[in-house]
Amino acid sequence: MSAAPILQVEDIAVTYSQLIPALRGVSLTVPSGSIVALLGGNGAGKTTTLKAVSNLIRAERGELTAGRIVYRGDATTDVEPWTLAERGLVQVLEGRRCFARLSVEDNLRLGAFVRRPDRADLEADLERIYRIFPRLKERRKTLAGYASGGEQQMVAIGRALMARPSLVLLDEPSMGLAPQVVEEIFETVAALNRDDGVSFLLAEQNAAITLRYAQFGYVLEGGRVVGKGNAQTLLQLDTLRDAYLGSGKAGIDGRTRKSHRSRGQREHRKLTGTAFR
Ligand SMILES: Nc1ncnc2c1ncn2[C@@H]1O[C@H](COP(=O)(O)OP(=O)(O)OP(=O)(O)O)[C@@H](O)[C@H]1O
Ligand SMILES: [Mg+2]
Repeated sequence: MSAAPILQVEDIAVTYSQLIPALRGVSLTVPSGSIVALLGGNGAGKTTTLKAVSNLIRAERGELTAGRIVYRGDATTDVEPWTLAERGLVQVLEGRRCFARLSVEDNLRLGAFVRRPDRADLEADLERIYRIFPRLKERRKTLAGYASGGEQQMVAIGRALMARPSLVLLDEPSMGLAPQVVEEIFETVAALNRDDGVSFLLAEQNAAITLRYAQFGYVLEGGRVVGKGNAQTLLQLDTLRDAYLGSGKAGIDGRTRKSHRSRGQREHRKLTGTAFR
């Protein structure tokens, strides 16, 4: 953990629609070349933290009301998300968003857009993604909407990798996937980190698997950091053990469940811009 940080989040607060506080005083550091976990249950503030870093919160009427975020030594204030992507900071959104009506390969091509590569470059990058995810090569002509959940997650990650990122903000890659597929995805993350030096800030409810791969982690609750440390330290935390490791009330198989209500609330908010009662 001695490397210079690629990302520093300094005491940030985020509010949605000017009245709903989502984060209060969150600070974290991602050392260059590391995998850092951001753990916590539903509504803890994981996605908000990632979107604050990528400057995507503004699209949801979110606002950074305090603190600052520094990526590779420069404050990200007012830097557009695509400019950050050009500089190597990309986000893989929660729910493995793909363009359902485009082929797997066209989804991947879109990821390279920020680099404006020439044809040869683009083809070389596609081949690289197919080496990382051989299954996507077999499925490259398939419409992404017909790909399996695991394949869609690979497309979402592959698309981010087409931007040749230095730091990937990865939001709940395990969500809704079978354990074996989750394992495969995490192995890929570990390989990219080890072989290509890609740094990751990885938001997850599934602490058990995440802490096998991350060197360091933070636990969020109610928009605050309530714990931090290396995997061993965090695994000793009562809050984490009870809530996310299956020994307490919420955990079943190592993760808490996304409730349909919370999804419904979120969709409602997106559609109407109001809170759901
Ligand atoms: N677009 C939005 N408008 C208003 N409030 C929001 C919005 N998005 C999130 N929130 C609220 O901000 C808080 C943090 O939500 P966030 O989505 O960051 O949590 P999370 O840790 O990612 O949860 P999950 O595990 O369910 O994805 C919650 O109280 C949530 O209801
Ligand atoms: Mg989330």
